[in-house]
Amino acid sequence: MHKILIINGPNLNLLGKRQTDIYGGINFEEYLTLLRDKYAIIDIHYFQSNHEGAIIDKIQASNTEFDGIVINPGAYAHTSIAIADAVQAISIPVVEVHISNVFARESFRHHSYLSAYCKGVIIGLGLNGYQLAIESLII
Ligand code: DQA
Repeated sequence: MHKILIINGPNLNLLGKRQTDIYGGINFEEYLTLLRDKYAIIDIHYFQSNHEGAIIDKIQASNTEFDGIVINPGAYAHTSIAIADAVQAISIPVVEVHISNVFARESFRHHSYLSAYCKGVIIGLGLNGYQLAIESLII
């Protein structure tokens, strides 16, 4: 059985409440239930944190435990060399997801430090991006 970890970074605990015009009205737990129903053959784990170090600890600990990671680093994508280093340091594949089209937004959202170390990046396709990322990890 595949074992996949989804990591959501800062403020993504507010999905469904925060800027619903940009991020949609569904909270992540609801979406996760749909994902787990749809991919019953995949063991999908979920971790959310608003803290950079906690995300780094989780990435490091996941190296041997999971087949792959789907990460939405939130704003840390644009600021965190430390998270990028953690992604580079592990050997399992990582797929980066952004719910919104960051290229259609402020220019400070146009660069992500970790993208270069990811298997791929899915941007602007809403919560569907997580599903597409999972599929890319199990094929
Ligand atoms: C985001 C985009 C980031 O720029 C922003 O800081 C977020 C969410 C997205 O999923 O579209 O928190 O990662």
